[in-house]
Amino acid sequence: MFEHFNTADQVFHYKLGLALTMEYDSLDMLVEMEEAALRSDVRDLFRDHAHKSRQQIENLQQIFSLLGIEAHQAPSPASKGMAKEARSYIAKTDDAVLDGALLAGGLELAHYETAVYDGLVIQAQAKGTAGIAELLHQNLGQEKAVIEDIKAAFESVATEDAAIQEESAAPDAPAIVIPPYLPPGSI
Ligand SMILES: [Fe+2]
Repeated sequence: MFEHFNTADQVFHYKLGLALTMEYDSLDMLVEMEEAALRSDVRDLFRDHAHKSRQQIENLQQIFSLLGIEAHQAPSPASKGMAKEARSYIAKTDDAVLDGALLAGGLELAHYETAVYDGLVIQAQAKGTAGIAELLHQNLGQEKAVIEDIKAAFESVATEDAAIQEESAAPDAPAIVIPPYLPPGSI
C-alpha cells in the first residue's frame, strides 16, 4: 500500500491493515487448534477466542469505514510465523502433551495481538477521531481477557501433564542402590 511512510496517518492505516491480516491469521490458527485440541474445555477456549476474532474483524472493518477508506490487509509476517509454528506443533507433538503446546502457542499469539492493539489505541487516542479509539479499545480488552483465560487453562493442563509424566516415569526408573561406605584400604 505504501512504499514509504511520510505521515503518522499512513503508519496508522498500515497498522490497521496489519491488524486485519493478523486477525484472519489468528482465526485460521484458532480453528485448527480447536480441531486438534484433545480436552473439551481447551477446545471451548479456542472456539471462544475464534468468536472474539470474528468480532474484532468486524470492529476493524467498521474503523476503516469511519476513516472513509477501503478495508485492506497489510503484510503481517509475525502472525503468519505464529500460525506456521502452531501447525508445526500440531504435526510433531505427541497427544499426551499436545494441549499444553497448543495453549502455549495461543498465549503467545494473544500477547502479540495485545501489543498491536496497545499501539493502535495510543495512535487513535492521539488522533482523537470519535469512535475509533473505542473500537480498538474493545479489541484490546478482549485480547487481555483471552490472555487470562488461556493462562488459567494452561496452568491446569501443565500441572496435570507434569503429574502424569511423574507417575508414568516412577515405575520405570531404575532403583538407585547406594553402596555401603567402605573406608579406604578395607577392600
Ligand atoms: Fe484477535
